[in-house]
Amino acid sequence: MKGVIFTGFLEYVETRFGSLVTENMISSCDLATDGAYSSVGTYRHSEIVQMICKLSEISGISIPLLLQDFGKRLFVLLVSTYPEAVDCTDDSFSLITAIENRIHVEVRKLYPDADLPTFSHEFLGADELKLLYTSERGLADLAHGLLLGCFEYYKEEVVITREDLSGGTGKKVVFMISRMAK
Ligand code: HEM
Repeated sequence: MKGVIFTGFLEYVETRFGSLVTENMISSCDLATDGAYSSVGTYRHSEIVQMICKLSEISGISIPLLLQDFGKRLFVLLVSTYPEAVDCTDDSFSLITAIENRIHVEVRKLYPDADLPTFSHEFLGADELKLLYTSERGLADLAHGLLLGCFEYYKEEVVITREDLSGGTGKKVVFMISRMAK
């Protein structure tokens, strides 16, 4: 998993929970890196999983909620790190429908070893989008948070319902998104 996700995660934990919690979380995990990440490095996915589990124990907030909340922050961070990702997009649906064939394609050019999910979509109306997330890493909650971050970014109001098609593993999830017309 790319370093930008790890540095973003630690920044999120610091801002939301403070440095004591951040230090406590890192020191109670068994991390090969000791919690030192560079945004251009690549690290084991299991390190972030360990940290999220620990953070959930410390904060009493469930893992899905933490992943969602982090995803919201991560969206803002990704867009400020890679501003070209939002070029040519002036609303959430144009960005979301560009993840698979443009945004993550550019990510893969930069980082050929990136672990990216797969998205497919279908418009059910001008303001109704069905989005299918698939990934072996089962990070549908993170995807949900990134989507929420995207709607906040474009100041759009939406209702999202989701259905897990992978027995609750978060590996294959359909998001039904209804947007209030502007
Ligand atoms: C609403 C928009 C987006 C969604 C829903 C989304 C979803 C995701 C998810 C869920 C992951 C975690 C990997 C997995 O699930 O297998 C991921 C990874 C990633 N995404 Fe996106 N993404 C979005 C927008 C962006 C943008 C704007 C960028 C910036 C260029 C970006 C760059 C990345 C990077 C660098 C990774 C990490 C790859 C790795 O760790 O190897 N994404 N994305």
